[in-house]
Amino acid sequence: MARILVLNGPNLGRLGSREPDVYGDQDLPALTTLLTGEAPDGTEIDLRQTDDEATLLGWLHEAVDTRTPVILNPAAFTHYSYALRDGAAQVTKAGVPLIEVHISNPHSREQFRHTSTISGVATGVIAGFGFDSYVLALAAIGRLQN
Ligand code: DQA
Repeated sequence: MARILVLNGPNLGRLGSREPDVYGDQDLPALTTLLTGEAPDGTEIDLRQTDDEATLLGWLHEAVDTRTPVILNPAAFTHYSYALRDGAAQVTKAGVPLIEVHISNPHSREQFRHTSTISGVATGVIAGFGFDSYVLALAAIGRLQN
């Protein structure tokens, strides 16, 4: 069975109650249900969340080793983690797609959110569409593979 890793960084485990005016009122289990419904038959959605940078890096290494496409919401790590950038670069340099996603549009928010360490090594970036950012990323991965 094909698999897509949907990796979520710090504080995204708090979706549903965290700043609903910015991130909406739905939680990660709802995102899993949404993506599982949108995924083509025979594609498993493997959605994970961690507040820990090392864990996220381990998952990127796993994506390289298993050649598994990644949808990555690096959350606040986006804006300062060079380690995560280097991890993401290993995925795309191996020829495996990695789509950076954001629920909000960081460019319409505070200045510090306008920088992404990840975008320069990502296959593509989708931001500002709520949970649909992930759905659009899923569609993009499907198109890249066909
Ligand atoms: C986010 C945007 C980031 O700036 C923020 O730190 C997050 C979530 C988003 O999905 O909109 O935690 O990645």
